[in-house]
This record gives sequence, C-alpha cells and structure tokens, in this order.
Amino acid sequence: MKLGVNIDHIATIRQARKTDEPDPVYAATIAELAGADGITIHLRQDRRHIQDRDLELLRQVVKTKLNLEMAITMEMVKVALKHKPDVCTLVPETAAEITTTGGLDVVMYGEKIEEVAGHLRAAGIEVSVFVDPDIEQLKACYKRGIRVIELNTGEYAKNWKSSFRDQELDKMKKAVAFAHKMDFKILAGHGLTYRNVGPIAAMKEIVELNIGHSIIANAAFIGLEKAVVNMKRLIE
Ligand code: PXP
Repeated sequence: MKLGVNIDHIATIRQARKTDEPDPVYAATIAELAGADGITIHLRQDRRHIQDRDLELLRQVVKTKLNLEMAITMEMVKVALKHKPDVCTLVPETAAEITTTGGLDVVMYGEKIEEVAGHLRAAGIEVSVFVDPDIEQLKACYKRGIRVIELNTGEYAKNWKSSFRDQELDKMKKAVAFAHKMDFKILAGHGLTYRNVGPIAAMKEIVELNIGHSIIANAAFIGLEKAVVNMKRLIE
C-alpha cells in the first residue's frame, strides 16, 4: 500500500508567522527521501496554508507524484492546467471549515465535477474524487466517468474510540468492496493517525492512503529534542 504525505501543515506553521520557514518544498524532499510515494497539497481558495509559490516549486522538485487537492472551480482548473500536477483530487471546500469536512457530493454536483474532470484529463492530469464511503456516491462517480476515488475515512477516524467505530468501519468495508467490484482505483484518507490506521491499512483493495496532520504532528515531537539541542549549542 502506498503512502501519500500531505504537507499542508508544514505551510500552516510557516503562515502562522508569515515567514519563510518551515518550507513545504524542503518537507517534500525529506518525505520523499524517507519513502513517501507521493506528496499531497491542498491549495485552498483562501490560501491559508499552501501558497501558489509552493505549488510552482513543488511541481519542479517532487519526483514521486504530486497530488493537488482542489475545489471544483474554474479558478482552480486554471491553476491546475498551469502547473500540471500528476493528480488532482476534487474536494468540497468552504471558507469556515477547519479542514475538509466530508466527501464531495457527487450526486448533487455531478455535472460540475464531470466538466472540471474533463478539463483536467484533457491536459493529461489524473482525476480523483474525495467521496464518503456511500454506495450512492460511488454510483454517481461511476456515472460521471470517475474511475479514481479517495474514500473519506474522516467519520471512521472521528468515531474510532466510540461505540460507532464498528459501524463506520463496516461502511468503509462495504464501500471498498463495492468500489473494487466496479473496478475503481481506491485511495483513502482523512483523520488517519498512528493509532487508527491499522484496520484501514488492512483493506487490501485500497492502493494508497493520504495522511497529513498526524505525520506532521509526530514529526514535531520526533524532532523537538534535536532542535533544542542545536539551538542550545549555538547560543552557548
Ligand atoms: N485526503 C483529503 C481529501 C484531505 O482533504 C485531507 C486533509 O487535507 C487528507 C486526506 C489528509 O487528512 P489528515 O491531514 O487528517 O491526515
């Protein structure tokens, strides 16, 4: 199973000070050298973390696979056509949300999705759609010509410690089985952590997981001791 590393929150730390560190471009290189199979960024319309400059440089630097998460707008289509990421993952986006809150509603926005996907595919960009593990959504994806999906593990992750865990896991299993039968390329992600990833990683039909927040959070702790030692050495 492949791992796509979402580096948005490296940029979140940088944007907290509007300075030039930490640089997501450097983060992408480290992640790739460590074995990441792909680098994912979400260029949000409010540019709260990843900036246009990051996309431009990452396109030049990323050697594995650059996956751009984007809203289904013509503004974002223009950006994608300019920089040509390897994959575009279509996601819902609202200004008020802290992070992506659910899958894209393909039943409701099917026509727009088909239009956006058409522009991207014509430029040789693979199109993936972020959807909830819901059979109706999968059927709508199929009807709209979508053949690559990223199943939203957000609800499973949110309920991981609650009594709904098995119910959410069951939804994932059913969606994975259906998607596999329909011959979709199946990815999954959102909210996955070192503690809850196991049952999802056990689903062999899933070819790739996209994980961001938990990896970046863990990186801070793995690196904090060395970072303090280095500064202490410098000021002494
Ligand atoms: N997949 C999609 C479509 C996302 O929007 C995100 C968050 O940007 C992720 C995966 C990664 O989620 P997390 O940061 O919770 O690992």
